[in-house]
Amino acid sequence: MKNYTDLSDIKDLQQLITEALELKKAKTALEIGKGKTLGMLFFNPSLRTRLSTEKAGRLLGMEVMVMNAGSDSWKLEFEDGAVMNSDKAEHIKEAAAVLSQYCDIIAVRAFPDLQDKEKDEAEIVLNSFKKYASVPVVNLESATGHPLQALTDAITISELKKKDRPKVVLSWAPHPRVLPQSVPNSFAEIMQRLEVDFVITNPQGYDLNPEITKDVLVIHNQEEALIDADFVYVKNWSSYQSYGQKLSEDRNWTFSAEKLLKTNNAKVMHCLPVRRNMVIADDVLDSDSSVVIKQAGNRTFAAQAVLKSILEETVKEVDLGKNA
Ligand code: CP
Repeated sequence: MKNYTDLSDIKDLQQLITEALELKKAKTALEIGKGKTLGMLFFNPSLRTRLSTEKAGRLLGMEVMVMNAGSDSWKLEFEDGAVMNSDKAEHIKEAAAVLSQYCDIIAVRAFPDLQDKEKDEAEIVLNSFKKYASVPVVNLESATGHPLQALTDAITISELKKKDRPKVVLSWAPHPRVLPQSVPNSFAEIMQRLEVDFVITNPQGYDLNPEITKDVLVIHNQEEALIDADFVYVKNWSSYQSYGQKLSEDRNWTFSAEKLLKTNNAKVMHCLPVRRNMVIADDVLDSDSSVVIKQAGNRTFAAQAVLKSILEETVKEVDLGKNA
């Protein structure tokens, strides 16, 4: 793979899942990344993505550099032709070109503003790095997607499923703040590429982007959607139609042990961090039904499989260059 900015960069999903599970089983460090540097830039906070991707890079033999962009570095200007008389001291054109001399892979986290749908969907930060960097770019969660999380989720379901075609339900849950649609977008996208019966349940007004959900069944009654579910992925997101708004904080949608009774003894997933008793109740998170910790553990192997695939592509390109 050349870049990992969205799920379309995965050509063979099953093969990548198998690779990640083999890396997990092997528990050995590799040398493919020796002498290579992974540079990670965070425009927003992170616990799992930052540490699991750093660990993944090191397990491949890479050096890893991490920077909180904007606070540790100069504020970046992304607008072409801007008169730079604001607080933004450096243009992405120079920044990406300079970073490309220090790093063999650049990974970026940049959340949406949730004010302007068109602007968020343009993925200005991620796409500017892709445009102006001369090395591969990895998405650590962008305005509209979280492909490393989605790969982790697909790995976790593949690892835990007890039937060939499990029923997977993505359920909206309440949250005190407005959150991006990136995690549910990528989860919905990757579930359409797995052998699963996939259903989304959310209140009216919270339907995700129909260009992503396509023909996926959306049920606005949570209890009906949960019947016979083998996996329930609980997540809050802000409204896509009333872009970036919070239309409801209805705690009837909080996922509790009572809701679990509707399912086929489902495994309960969440990308974390999770707001206890708002998104998922203690009686689920503290039970054997919750797989959120195992899921977070798989972040390392998803990142390792992706970085390894990019490094292999780089080696291939160097070999082709030698033989040209
Ligand atoms: N799930 C996830 O991306 O966690 P962090 O925000 O802590 O990286």
